[in-house]
Amino acid sequence: MRFGVLGSGVVGQSLADGLLAKGHEVMRGSREPAKLEPWRAGAGPRARVGPFTEAAGFGEVVVLAVKGSAAVAAVTSCAEALAGKTVIDTTNPIADAPPVNGVLQFFTGPGDSLLERLQAAVPAARFVKAFSCVGNALMVDPKLPGGPPTMFICGNHEGAKGQVGTILAQLGWELEDLGAAEAARAIEPLCMLWCIPGLRQNRWRHAFKLLQG
Ligand SMILES: NC(=O)c1ccc[n+]([C@@H]2O[C@H](COP(=O)([O-])OP(=O)(O)OC[C@H]3O[C@@H](n4cnc5c(N)ncnc54)[C@H](OP(=O)(O)O)[C@@H]3O)[C@@H](O)[C@H]2O)c1
Repeated sequence: MRFGVLGSGVVGQSLADGLLAKGHEVMRGSREPAKLEPWRAGAGPRARVGPFTEAAGFGEVVVLAVKGSAAVAAVTSCAEALAGKTVIDTTNPIADAPPVNGVLQFFTGPGDSLLERLQAAVPAARFVKAFSCVGNALMVDPKLPGGPPTMFICGNHEGAKGQVGTILAQLGWELEDLGAAEAARAIEPLCMLWCIPGLRQNRWRHAFKLLQG
């Protein structure tokens, strides 16, 4: 499958590398694609780079991995290319203000989420929240003593969530579908929870797992 990965940061790199390793084709997008040339040169013939709009157009599925405060503008600039496509939204609404006692600050409030803002900005795209509640180092084939961790997802389009479920299984995750876009109000703050051990005690190798009776 062809993936567009919008983002030149560590999340874009981890997911692009993981998707290439599973046999997919990937075009990574950036405002300055030239800075991704060294990555492309080392990533093999199925890797490409381009501006955001080109990467969005290339992907049958698109991964959004840009800074939270730039996410609405980034998807709006690619709106035409994203119409009808599954967009895996990895972003978190982290504010520029520093963490308080290890707790990140968000620019969204209660009854709000970045995923819902993205879906409202580009109604024709099919946003699915995923990968937002784990560090980039564990996004692909997470190996932890407790077995495969759980990725919490949500979104309004059932077909898009089905597609993301297949991709998550390829990348070594169990899946918990929490329903429609509003569930992002609960999923996005898991990023705060995930980061607290890291910011307070420099512990970063963990992931969430839903234990069911
Ligand atoms: N780091 C993690 O482990 C982790 C884990 C889970 C979720 N997340 C979330 O995943 C997203 C990506 O995180 P990251 O750490 O890989 O990278 P990041 O530093 O948060 O974002 C880098 C990307 O954001 C784009 N960007 C920044 N300002 C922009 C602007 N004003 N307009 C358009 N694009 C802009 C950059 O574009 P250029 O390429 O043009 O510079 C770059 O592609 C974030 O929302 C983050 O909260 C991160």
